[in-house]
Amino acid sequence: MKIVNECIQKHLGELVSHPLFTEMKPNPDLSRALAFAEVLAPWVMTFQDITRINASLAKDPEIRATLATHAREDRGHQEWFLDDLDLIFGERVRDVRWLYDPALDVVREESLAIASEIFRVDDDRLRIVFVEALEAAAGAFIARVCRQAAESGDDGKLKYFGPVHAEAESGHEMFEDEERDEEVLPDDVRERALPMVGRIFGSFLRMADVAFAKQSAANA
Ligand SMILES: [Fe+2]
Ligand SMILES: [Fe+2]
Repeated sequence: MKIVNECIQKHLGELVSHPLFTEMKPNPDLSRALAFAEVLAPWVMTFQDITRINASLAKDPEIRATLATHAREDRGHQEWFLDDLDLIFGERVRDVRWLYDPALDVVREESLAIASEIFRVDDDRLRIVFVEALEAAAGAFIARVCRQAAESGDDGKLKYFGPVHAEAESGHEMFEDEERDEEVLPDDVRERALPMVGRIFGSFLRMADVAFAKQSAANA
């Protein structure tokens, strides 16, 4: 997995260099500090289905169990997200019509593009790589947004964008499997893993573009 992990780290470096993160400035008005949050809704919701289905599609019982544990550890985080939106932007109806607003088109498209990976893979080890790529991005994202929320004056009310989520993410059981990190992937599996990681991060970069546009407009 070493080469795959290096590939994930390389893409992660690119993602965290996105202006969404580098140009974040604390603001006591959370609806401005975290103005981008709403546009990520399709991804936050889709993530729940993707991780659950990815686990159910694994043929190897051990890999299926690892993936199911991961999906379970992330279950319900979409509720934290929706509660946070109420806190940040005020309570209002965020219904199906809202979720399919054209402003969220790109984020829905990229969420589906990421989802498509789990139906294409033909080797369970790629399902692990898939989740590792998602988790690397999620961990980096949540750590940065948490800092932004705290510096903007959040006093612990936020959950998805707060330390409770950062802790849950760093506590994923699958991160503790050092043996897997040392596992050597066959060449043909690795050859499929690297482009998949590239596609996933490509989707995250396009979501970051949308989020940054929203953030810039709200802080202009
Ligand atoms: Fe989560
Ligand atoms: Fe997670």
